Amino acid sequence: MGFISRREFVEMTLAACACAVCPAMSHGETTGTVSAAAAPAGGTDVGDAKSFTKDGVWDTWASAGFFLVREKGYLFAVSNVCTHKGGKLVLNPAVPGQIKCTKHEGFFDNLGNNVSGPPKQKLPRLAIGRNAQGHIIVDASQKIQFADWGKAGAYVKL
Ligand code: FES
Repeated sequence: MGFISRREFVEMTLAACACAVCPAMSHGETTGTVSAAAAPAGGTDVGDAKSFTKDGVWDTWASAGFFLVREKGYLFAVSNVCTHKGGKLVLNPAVPGQIKCTKHEGFFDNLGNNVSGPPKQKLPRLAIGRNAQGHIIVDASQKIQFADWGKAGAYVKL
């Protein structure tokens, strides 16, 4: 094993930083291509992409089965069904952006990572894309597990 040059070190550092900027990539196991995905057929229209100007978590579409999350310029949908025993998930009023299970006090962060309590698995994300009118469409019937969070169709870049 040899030493790396200063140039190689800088290039490696920049590559790591680029991944850290993207929540879809930095928390997934793959390095999928950042690209716009076509809107899934069917699904829920959550409105114009221009509506989401700040980071946050919205529970507006709870009855459709998901939270909508904007994080660092990326928009994605997180399932609102607990990975422990299917409990209903709600926003935790005590911790902004945190997701709480109403059944056994399991907690998830805004990205869908299990952070405490009984759940041992992350929440799946749901297929998401932008239609021809620029509206964001979420298809709750298509679940995306952690290994594919970084792939096109798992998020929309705003
Ligand atoms: S069903 Fe959610 S913590 Fe048990």
